[in-house]
Amino acid sequence: ISSQIELHKLYGGVVPEIASRKHVEKVNFVVREALKEAGETLDSIDAIAVTYGPGLVGALLVGVAEAKALAFAKNKPLVGVHHIEGHICANYIEHPDLEPPFLCLVVSGGHTHLVDVKDYGKYEIIGCTRDAAGEAFDKVARAIGLGYPGGPKIEALAREGNKDAIAFPRAKVSDSKMDFSFSGLKSSVLNYLNKCEMKGEEVNRADIAASFQKAVVDVLVEHTMQAAADFGMKKVAIAGGVASNGALRTAMEKACTERGYKFYRPSPIFCTDNAAMIGVAAYYEYIRGTRHSWDLNAVPNLKLGER
Ligand code: KG4
Ligand code: ZN
Repeated sequence: ISSQIELHKLYGGVVPEIASRKHVEKVNFVVREALKEAGETLDSIDAIAVTYGPGLVGALLVGVAEAKALAFAKNKPLVGVHHIEGHICANYIEHPDLEPPFLCLVVSGGHTHLVDVKDYGKYEIIGCTRDAAGEAFDKVARAIGLGYPGGPKIEALAREGNKDAIAFPRAKVSDSKMDFSFSGLKSSVLNYLNKCEMKGEEVNRADIAASFQKAVVDVLVEHTMQAAADFGMKKVAIAGGVASNGALRTAMEKACTERGYKFYRPSPIFCTDNAAMIGVAAYYEYIRGTRHSWDLNAVPNLKLGER
C-alpha cells in the first residue's frame, strides 16, 4: 500500500487531481515492490488484475492503463475487478473456511451496501445508502475539528467519551426495511453543535464522537441483523474502511454470537483500500473464466455484478 493520506490531509479530503497524479508517480514503484516482496516476476505470475470501478475516474484510469500495458507486454490475461467485490473478498484472505453464500455489510468511504454473496463473483445488493457511513464519519469529524480522515480520529476520541451522553437519532429499520440513510444523523450532530454555540455552551467533543459512533454502529448492526433474519443467512461478514472500526466489530460480533451466526471480518489492514483484496477477487473471477480485453476502460459508476 502506498498511502496518499498525508498529502490529502492538507486539504481536508481527497483532491482528485492530486490523487491521479500521485498514482502515476507511484504505480510502477508499487508493482515492483509487490513483486519483490512476493518473490515473483512479471513472467512468473498467471494474470494481471485491476480495479476498474467504481471510484474517481482519474485514479482508476491510471491503474487500468498500467494493467493493460503490463498484460499486453507480458501476454498475460487481464482481469478487471469491481472495487466493492475486492472489499468483500478481503474476508477470504484470513478465513479459508468462509465460503458463499453469506451476508456482507460493506462500509467504506463512498458506499454502504448490504450484499447477498450468492457465490464467488455472484452478488445481489439487498440494501444500500446514498450517503455512506464513512462519509458520515468524515463529515462529523470535520464539524468537530478533527480533520481528515475522520473515521480513525472519531474512533480514538470516542474512547474518551460517553456514548450515552447525547441522544442522536437512529434511522429505524421499519422506516425503510433495507435502504437506510445517515443524513438525519449528520444534520442532528450539526444542529447540536449550532445550538451549543448559540447558547455559548462548551461542547464535549469526546461525548459527541462516542454518541455519534454509537448511533452509526447501532443502525448498521440492526439493519444487518434484520437482513440476516429475512434472508435466512447464518454467516455474516463486514468489509470496507469503516469495518476496521473497533466499536462496529465488537457490536457486530456480539449480535452475531447472540443469534448463533458465524461472524467474519478482515484484519484492519485488509479493510482499508489495498491490492491484496483485488488480487483475491480476481483469483475467483479468473477461475470463473472472467477475462477483459484491451478495450477495458475505467467505469466510475460500475455496478456490482456487472462485467
Ligand atoms: O474502503 P476505504 O478505505 O476507501 C473507500 O473505498 O472509500 O474507506 C475509507 C473510509 C473513510 O471514510 C474513513 O473515514 C473510514 O473508511 N474509516 C473509518 C475507520 N477507518 C477508516 N471509519 C470509522 N472507524 C475507523 N476506524
Ligand atoms: Zn475502498
